[in-house]
Amino acid sequence: MTAVESPRLQTAAHALELQGVSRRFGGLVAVREVSLALQPGERRAIIGPNGAGKTTLFNVITGELRPTAGTIRFFGRDVTHLPPYQRIRLGLARTYQTPLVFPRLSVADNLYLAVRGVRPWRLSLRLPRRSDPEFREVEELAERVGLGHALRALAGALSHGEQRQLEIGMALASRPKLLLLDEPAAGLSPGERGKLTALLRELDPRMTVLLIEHDMDVAFQVVQRVTVLHEGSVIAEGAPEEIAANPVVQSVYLGGGYG
Ligand SMILES: Nc1ncnc2c1ncn2[C@@H]1O[C@H](COP(=O)(O)OP(=O)(O)O)[C@@H](O)[C@H]1O
Ligand SMILES: [Mg+2]
Repeated sequence: MTAVESPRLQTAAHALELQGVSRRFGGLVAVREVSLALQPGERRAIIGPNGAGKTTLFNVITGELRPTAGTIRFFGRDVTHLPPYQRIRLGLARTYQTPLVFPRLSVADNLYLAVRGVRPWRLSLRLPRRSDPEFREVEELAERVGLGHALRALAGALSHGEQRQLEIGMALASRPKLLLLDEPAAGLSPGERGKLTALLRELDPRMTVLLIEHDMDVAFQVVQRVTVLHEGSVIAEGAPEEIAANPVVQSVYLGGGYG
């Protein structure tokens, strides 16, 4: 033993760690040797032009697609070969590029099903009663995503922005540790974007969030770091200001037009 103290080891695992992850579709390499690591609680954006491989990367992280190479870890655990439902159990939740809600059910019913979805030993699909303990959870979720006033509204009658809010509420129902959002601001009006940005900024700071976002104003208000994908590869990573000023990024993605 020496008297010299060893440097403090960083023992805390990353919330999400990808090492050399690739995904091919036949001859097309949609995701190419992507490595990235998110600290617990980190907010990270993935940006890149259409077809860059962003959604494919999400599908590989959730297990909806198998990677053709590489490893994926959640909180230090190798999940590369786990099916999606087991990753969900480990604390993963996501939203889709096109909101996935039950249009003919109310906001409350959509949230209720999501809440019950995380309790798979209860198989009944009956709809909520005010006396259910889950109903308080439904109300809280609705309030958290700005839909507290719309519990009885049919999901299909909500605006596009409200459907996105609802979908985020449904993703939050499982109390995820890692939340993936695929273009949550796509198709929203400027007013709706503002609301969404506020909602994302108010999420539990302990939750790790990975966000695909085209709207730089949204992404840059929400995240600490940005990863840029281009033709399946990571071409830059850094703080939002660095990424906005990066000439390579500007030439492939921002076209110099970022303002
Ligand atoms: N299931 C699939 N089968 C074949 N090709 C796919 C499939 N999914 C995506 N791709 C292709 O992979 C590339 C990346 O797509 P995607 O991940 O959707 O990009 P992004 O989300 O960045 O716009 C595109 O060229 C797309 O056409
Ligand atoms: Mg996409």
